[in-house]
Amino acid sequence: MQEITVPSLSERAPAMTAAEIAESLVPPRQFEQATLDDYLPDADYPSQERAVEKVRAFAAGWSAPRGMFARRAAPSKPGIYLDGGFGVGKTHLLAALWKLAPGRTYFGTFIEYTALVGALGYAATVKLLSGASFLAIDEFELDDPGDTMIMTRLLGELVAGGTRIAATSNTPPNALGEGRFAAADFLREIHALADRFEVVRIDGLDYRRRDVEGHAVSLGDAEYADAVSRAAAHGHVTADPFDRILKHLSTVHPSRYVRLVDGLDAIGITDVHVLTNQTDALRFVALVDRLYDEQVRVLATGVPLDQVFGEDMLAGGYRKKYLRATSRLIALTSGGDRPS
Ligand SMILES: Nc1ncnc2c1ncn2[C@@H]1O[C@H](COP(=O)(O)OP(=O)(O)O)[C@@H](O)[C@H]1O
Ligand SMILES: [Mg+2]
Repeated sequence: MQEITVPSLSERAPAMTAAEIAESLVPPRQFEQATLDDYLPDADYPSQERAVEKVRAFAAGWSAPRGMFARRAAPSKPGIYLDGGFGVGKTHLLAALWKLAPGRTYFGTFIEYTALVGALGYAATVKLLSGASFLAIDEFELDDPGDTMIMTRLLGELVAGGTRIAATSNTPPNALGEGRFAAADFLREIHALADRFEVVRIDGLDYRRRDVEGHAVSLGDAEYADAVSRAAAHGHVTADPFDRILKHLSTVHPSRYVRLVDGLDAIGITDVHVLTNQTDALRFVALVDRLYDEQVRVLATGVPLDQVFGEDMLAGGYRKKYLRATSRLIALTSGGDRPS
């Protein structure tokens, strides 16, 4: 087997300042090109066409000409909530909307914003985000009452200061019919703000279902060595045993994982095994989210990565997160001939 000399992920130990975190609050690489025009509504699900129209109307609030004869396109509500199943294009629409917003804008997942509050403190976060014209919150989570409360309070202050907000629901793959009442839950949890949000329901099938069916690719040792060498010849690659990655993740704050994967084209993971520890599993999920955002290819040996979350974990309270990570790992390990 060929000798591989590529750096270890564990050599990257990033620290981020508030300004750097703020700078990282932009749509993931995968959605840089997303526009409302290239959202293709599925004719079988009329709610998709309606959703794009609602999003357009929301964006028209920024560009609508004022005056007596101007079309009354601007919506009266400062918030919009896109509620729908996995893969119907919620993040796509959110990123497209973000791009249309003028002035100072932010885009992050719910988890990124709560990590920001964790890193900076509440007051400094309010100060940092205040005065923004638009804030996009992807995958609004409702499973932690404390986090929900902090976010509701934060949004209340920002909305009062004139910031407009768009959020999406957090729906796992394979959640057929589940999450049907996510909008009701959302409105109940943000009750003080509920009447400031328009809820837009998006029905449909997973747009990327073709990409995510099947299994995460596990490579043989020789195949792995070859794939890592080839990837390293064209870009930035790290290679580590699975356990060393898990250990390193425990030493880096999850809000900094974005920096851990920054600039990487591929990550090599050897000797993948089933996870038995929930804390390790959740850290790994956070890493997978960052890898997915940056579209970092995953090369792995051992147990296929769609099988690392055990049945007991999938049956527990974090089921949604594990299923999302599984779908993402299938996509990231299957990028055989993808350019870049
Ligand atoms: N109707 C659509 N037209 C074009 N691309 C779509 C559409 N729906 C989803 N996509 C694409 O499919 C992928 C998954 O969509 P995403 O926005 O991540 O879904 P969600 O956030 O609802 O889970 C993205 O690459 C997105 O650009
Ligand atoms: Mg999404």
